[in-house]
Amino acid sequence: MSKPINGLLARTAKPIARPARPSFSSGPCAKPPGWSASLLDTRVLGRSHRSALGKQRLACCIALMRDLLEVPDSHRIGIVPGSDTGAFEMAMWTMLGQRPVTTLAWESFGEGWVTDAVKQLKLDPTVIRAGYGELPNLDALDWSNDVLFTWNGTTSGVRVPDGEWIATDREGLSFADATSAVFAYELPWDRIDVATFSWQKVLGGEGGHGVLILGPRAVERLESYVPDRALPKLFRLTSGGKLIHGIFSGETINTPSMLAVEDAIFALEWGTAIGGLSAMIDRSRANAAALDRIVEQRDWLGHLAHDPATRSTTSVCLTVDGDADRIKLLTRLLESEGAAYDVASYRDAPPGLRIWCGATVDTADVEALGPWLDWAWSESADQALERSNNQ
Ligand SMILES: Cc1ncc(COP(=O)(O)O)c(C=O)c1O
Repeated sequence: MSKPINGLLARTAKPIARPARPSFSSGPCAKPPGWSASLLDTRVLGRSHRSALGKQRLACCIALMRDLLEVPDSHRIGIVPGSDTGAFEMAMWTMLGQRPVTTLAWESFGEGWVTDAVKQLKLDPTVIRAGYGELPNLDALDWSNDVLFTWNGTTSGVRVPDGEWIATDREGLSFADATSAVFAYELPWDRIDVATFSWQKVLGGEGGHGVLILGPRAVERLESYVPDRALPKLFRLTSGGKLIHGIFSGETINTPSMLAVEDAIFALEWGTAIGGLSAMIDRSRANAAALDRIVEQRDWLGHLAHDPATRSTTSVCLTVDGDADRIKLLTRLLESEGAAYDVASYRDAPPGLRIWCGATVDTADVEALGPWLDWAWSESADQALERSNNQ
């Protein structure tokens, strides 16, 4: 922090070099390096999504997701409406109710699924919670229940360490909201019955569509259990007691944005070209490590996630040794200088910074952020002091 010297504040000089791409939002996230709208394949735009070409592009998108995420043939992948929320709620509404439910929550989005389960579906779930920065105990779960959780808590920067805690002999189904986890961690597909995500996070794609991944036991549930509730057409995954297979081969429930599909294909081809899943994971880890070095060197910054073993390498949430007003000023300064966009913590989370470190961000840009954080921190102290002097 700037310390007053003879009544004046020691100012930190404004850095010269800015991050080349100051997009650090946790969704929609930075586009893949080299992305340009002019590079998208636009042949399908203006055509029906049910034309041969439309179905081919949707199927191509699904195949690329399967390859890049290393999803086995046992699991089905569908593109559905309503982004990650749509995909996760579709799974909840169609599958829950057959057996008891456990919901895990340690940040805002996990809490959202608790609210759905309690207030909307009236399931009386067992709710296991932890506060921001912590993970609940994952060892004592009853796997005769269906278990809902968020793989990476985007608003607290806390993730599950791996999938070892998911019982292999579970009777219930595991439901993973994996929207800020896919393409950034290795997911053990044999332990995941339902996974959902949307393209605008680690892929840097566009919002609008969700991706629903179903393992064989989830399909079995869908085909053997009819919940006692009304299901809108947008949520219907079966017809006559059988899975609608078309949804998982590119015949979407309703009209998708083919522009968003082409944009996702671009990102998936980028991920494939740089070396696939392991290369994407490496980029995310390198970004998080670069940010960690910045945090280590500054006593006014810390990690909201206490345990490094469960600290996110995508949505990295930082504590700041200042009040909410000063943090607001800091993020405004960073934005107005074009040094970092959208780095304030989520509205329901403790005030602080949240810096996206997913694969589409370049490590050099994270490194370039350090001096700008120092400058904005020093400026925010000066401006706060000036304000209090003028009062
Ligand atoms: C963990 C998690 N779940 C759900 C959502 C909601 O995603 P969407 O806007 O794609 O519906 C988000 C958005 O940030 C998220 O981080």
